Amino acid sequence: MERTFLAIKPDGVQRGLVSEIIGRFETKGFTLVGLKFMNVSRELAEQHYDVHRERPFFGSLVEFITSGPVVAMVWEGEGVVSSARKIIGATNPLTAEPGTIRGDFGVNIGRNLIHGSDALETAQREIALWFKDEELVSWQPHLTPWLK
Ligand code: TYD
Repeated sequence: MERTFLAIKPDGVQRGLVSEIIGRFETKGFTLVGLKFMNVSRELAEQHYDVHRERPFFGSLVEFITSGPVVAMVWEGEGVVSSARKIIGATNPLTAEPGTIRGDFGVNIGRNLIHGSDALETAQREIALWFKDEELVSWQPHLTPWLK
């Protein structure tokens, strides 16, 4: 089953949006398989954003993501990688559609509340980077089998 990596960034945590953001994936019908509240080391942040290493915003991005705790998560479900990206909305909250997380709660590209893997291969890389195998729970929501 397809999995994606999501992380509520320090701004989402500090603005009290953790339950709101988690709720959007939960009520959509995806299955939570991993979750931890953690501080991010500089090393992890730099590895996570390695693809942006040469971009001018790389330094501030790493500073921001290491500035306070984040909620790291793995969610599972058919088509979850691209669906989660739609639920999250465009990178710049100012142009993100209303109804998306960034469109509803953000105004600043450097404070866009949540990260979501952008493709299947990225999701696999990010899940392996942030979680150990034993931190992921494989389970079936047996009371709601139609969601699978
Ligand atoms: P990116 O992977 O392009 O966006 P997304 O998070 O939607 O997959 O960029 C990673 C993060 O870098 C983005 O969430 C916010 C930050 N960022 C900036 O601060 N300035 C920028 O111009 C861009 C493109 C991204």
